[in-house]
Amino acid sequence: MEVLYFHIDYREVHYCKILLDDIFGKPCFMNEIIWAYDYGGRAKSKWPAKHDNILFYVKDSKKYFFDTSKLDREPYMAPGLVGAEKAVLGKLPTDTWWEKYVDFDRNDNWWMTIVPTNSKERIGYPTQKPKKLVDRIVKASSLPGATVLDFFAGSGTVGASCIDLGRNFILIDNNQSSLEVMAKRFSNISDIEWLGFDPTPFKPNIYKETKQEILSEVEKKYTPEFEMLVCNSFLLESKFTGKE
Ligand SMILES: C[S@@+](CC[C@H](N)C(=O)[O-])C[C@H]1O[C@@H](n2cnc3c(N)ncnc32)[C@H](O)[C@@H]1O
Repeated sequence: MEVLYFHIDYREVHYCKILLDDIFGKPCFMNEIIWAYDYGGRAKSKWPAKHDNILFYVKDSKKYFFDTSKLDREPYMAPGLVGAEKAVLGKLPTDTWWEKYVDFDRNDNWWMTIVPTNSKERIGYPTQKPKKLVDRIVKASSLPGATVLDFFAGSGTVGASCIDLGRNFILIDNNQSSLEVMAKRFSNISDIEWLGFDPTPFKPNIYKETKQEILSEVEKKYTPEFEMLVCNSFLLESKFTGKE
């Protein structure tokens, strides 16, 4: 493992930080990224919690890959203030609504909405993370061809990101519905090796093929037994209803 991004909610993050410091050592802790969003209920008895935490660790704090030059850049709000070269390049995304007021160059506050329920990206897993969020991590902390491991894959967003960005991936989940969702999500990717799970029945194209098979069965010429059954049912119908 070269780097670890550990995504967790605000109730657990402090306990996990202590455990992770024990494992990796405090100097290997690089950032606490705040993913702020605008979704969910609004508590009346306390401040509504509207963020998750992502702890960023490296294996060797003196030697690790980190490159934000490939991230999509955004235009500066006031390009005249930053000089021509920077203005052309644009700034690193901060995704903060308050960036209009504070000129952050880059920071650990990422404002990004959740995957909207009616969006094309939404694939039917309750805790699905935005691919844009994962893309940012994958781009900054790995090179094409690297392997990314997600122990808690859920809907497989890390896999989807790796496919688009040319990385290899290993996804793990112990929940059947997560595996079914991933089987559908990756149904058009042929070179995935599945261990301990057969994705075939959950692939949408397999559903189509099965449906086609059933239709062609129905279209086949009826067997004599079937025709006999139909005749008998007509006879029975006329007997009971009195209709010819
Ligand atoms: C928050 S979800 C991950 C969501 C994912 N990032 C996405 O974009 O869909 C956490 C996942 O961890 C899985 N999980 C929890 N405990 C696990 C364990 N002990 N072993 C494997 N998977 C586990 C759950 O089934 C769940 O799908």
